[in-house]
This record gives sequence, structure tokens and C-alpha cells, in this order.
Amino acid sequence: MLKEHLLKKLNEQVNFEFYSSYTYLAMASYAESMDLSGIANFFRIQAQEELFHAMKLYDYIFQKGGTVELDTIEKPDSNYNGIVDLFKKGYEHEQLVTSRIYSLVDIATEEKEHATLSLLRWFVDEQVEEENNFNTLLKKISKSVDNPAALYMLDTELAARVFTAPSSSENA
Ligand code: FEO
Repeated sequence: MLKEHLLKKLNEQVNFEFYSSYTYLAMASYAESMDLSGIANFFRIQAQEELFHAMKLYDYIFQKGGTVELDTIEKPDSNYNGIVDLFKKGYEHEQLVTSRIYSLVDIATEEKEHATLSLLRWFVDEQVEEENNFNTLLKKISKSVDNPAALYMLDTELAARVFTAPSSSENA
């Protein structure tokens, strides 16, 4: 059984993962409006990843005898200043997710909740990949944005992204 404080924070993270999904869907919409359908596809897949994260936490809460309490999902930002800004905000968002996961680790450590620490270890590792993806793409986009041929190639590359459940999904 999870203690009240940790359960509350895990529930907040479920909400935040849904908010993350909504945020990336807003980014997909922005890219689509700029006729960059490959980049839009990248963000749509990212939105699916966030749903996977939300449901991983959702399932865990029930496995531990808790109850998921769904809350209002905040309206995502939709003011973007070009495609570089889009990836910059995506990267910043992932850094924020990482800091939230670290806070959860701190609470679970304090409460000696070893099972939750094991779950959160998966999220810690996942965040390394998430941040690296955005950082790498931010650098690529920054170099391509003023070069239509390079931007076209990158857009085509990102059109190929498909959703595959993140590794170690057997722990989900
Ligand atoms: Fe759920 Fe992109 O972190």
C-alpha cells in the first residue's frame, strides 16, 4: 500500500503525463499548420509515448492497492515562434519531466518505498532517452531551418517514426 503523500504525487504525475501528451499534440498541430507533416508525425508519436507513460503509472497505482484520481488536464501552450522554438520547448518540457521524476524518487527514497523506486528507475532511464532525442533534434533543426533541402530531408526522416512501446515495457 502506498502512503498518502506518494500516492498523491504519483497521481499528479499521471495527470502531467496526459498533459505532456496534450502538449505534444499541440506541437503536432503547429507543425501540420506549417506543412511539415513529418515533424507533425514525430510529435504525434511523442504524444502516444506520453500516454504510455501515463498508463504505466496508472497501472502501477492499482497494482499497489491505490486509486487513480483523474484531474483536469491543463490547456497546452500553443504559442510557438517557429520550428526551432517548437523543439526548444519540447526539450525544455522533457527537462521539466525529468525534474518531476527526480522529485518522485526523492519522496519514494524518504518513504523507503522500494517497489516505487524500481518503477521510477525505469522512468529515470527513459528520461535520458527523451532528453537526448529532443536535444539531438533541436541541434539538427537549428542547422536545417534556413536550408529548405535539409529541412525537407529531416521532415521526411521524421515521417518514418512509428510508435513502439518503450523498452522494458514488460514492467508496465
Ligand atoms: Fe513522459 Fe516525455 O516524458
